[in-house]
Amino acid sequence: MRVLVVGGGGREHALVWALRKSARVTEVVCAPGNAGIAGSVAVDVGDVEAICGLAEGMDLVVIGPEVPLAAGVVDALEARGVRVFGPRRAAAMLETSKGFAKDFMGRWGIATAGYRVCESAAAVEAAVAAFGPRVVVKADGLAAGKGVVLCESREEALAAGVAMLGAYESVVVEEMLDGPEISYFAVCDGVTAVGLAAAQDHKRIGEGDTGSNTGGMGAYSMDGLVSAEMEVWMTGVAQRVVDGMRAEGTPFSGVLFTGFMMTAAGPKVLEFNTRFGDPETEAIVLRLETELVEILEAAVSGRLEGFAVRLKAGAGVCVVAASGGYPGGYRTGFEVRGLDTVGGGVEVFHAGTGWREGTVVTAGGRVLGVSAVGKDLGEALGLVYGALAGISFEGMVYRRDIGWRALGVG
Ligand code: AMP
Ligand code: GLY
Repeated sequence: MRVLVVGGGGREHALVWALRKSARVTEVVCAPGNAGIAGSVAVDVGDVEAICGLAEGMDLVVIGPEVPLAAGVVDALEARGVRVFGPRRAAAMLETSKGFAKDFMGRWGIATAGYRVCESAAAVEAAVAAFGPRVVVKADGLAAGKGVVLCESREEALAAGVAMLGAYESVVVEEMLDGPEISYFAVCDGVTAVGLAAAQDHKRIGEGDTGSNTGGMGAYSMDGLVSAEMEVWMTGVAQRVVDGMRAEGTPFSGVLFTGFMMTAAGPKVLEFNTRFGDPETEAIVLRLETELVEILEAAVSGRLEGFAVRLKAGAGVCVVAASGGYPGGYRTGFEVRGLDTVGGGVEVFHAGTGWREGTVVTAGGRVLGVSAVGKDLGEALGLVYGALAGISFEGMVYRRDIGWRALGVG
């Protein structure tokens, strides 16, 4: 079986690694991939025609990031008869339009923060009066994680709203929720949602969850992160999404990644993403007992009813090593040293890496996702931090407190 994975980050390296575990998978090509992924071929992930070209002769295509989903790559591939894992453009709107997602949750009774979609400064002002003064202002489109501003005052909210209305047609203003966040992943085939795993991301650059928001500085997934009852309930939310999308004529297939805020009044949905999370995927694939290719094939063929994903007991963890300065400006092209010192039980998934004269060099903000599984979180963290001690590049930064909430320190 030949598989094409679209994307070039740590998530895609992890997906390629997991696909190659299967004896049935004879070849994996990754586009554009990176220096850590054998079989990488250059492509612009927003170039639908180029991706369709690479998909010729492939038995399965797996889409990693949101950009090609928003560009309609799944629709284009399906029109050519290619088997593809990921949602069509209309279903990816659960991620690409926050306004759509919020209205959808309203129509299907899914608990979320109170909100208004605003198209003018006056509307933002009215929304702040209704929910504020603490509100969250969100750009209504893909903004690579940078379109969300947490505002503590009316003035901050108005300034954020006006700035975003300059670049986007509308903004969503919503009530601020408090509590720990959980990411829940479910695999969907248009009719059925099957739970994959719960995970916790660490979005801030600084230890103790301080500083700027990033794409994610580390994640873990472990037994007991949420109770078995809560997992069933969270899968139920995913099933409600699948039922609603089907009823509305835009069936959802692919991974539904629901961000929950565990508030005092119960879990509420913060957002949907219509793809695997990064770096959650790097932590989750290491825990899979069921082969990834079996899961993806069941979804693509509409065979998820009665399907169950088996995970290894214990914990999986990923800690991201990033370029100094990220998520702001940073320099690239620094040699990555010590990759050959990494021992067994640890996988180093590459994200922003490239080659220069046979040497692996930094090429992005998030450079590596160092990942391991253990019988518990402490063991997995020990393996990862042990490996990180031997890896270096100029300006390398990583958080030393991944999993701190679960471990009850800090
Ligand atoms: P989103 O892209 O909508 O998930 O927002 C990014 C991050 O902003 C979330 O992971 C939360 O940390 C935070 N956030 C979003 N919406 C809210 C909210 N209503 N209340 C508190 N924090 C939020
Ligand atoms: N880790 C968050 C995301 O993939 O959006």
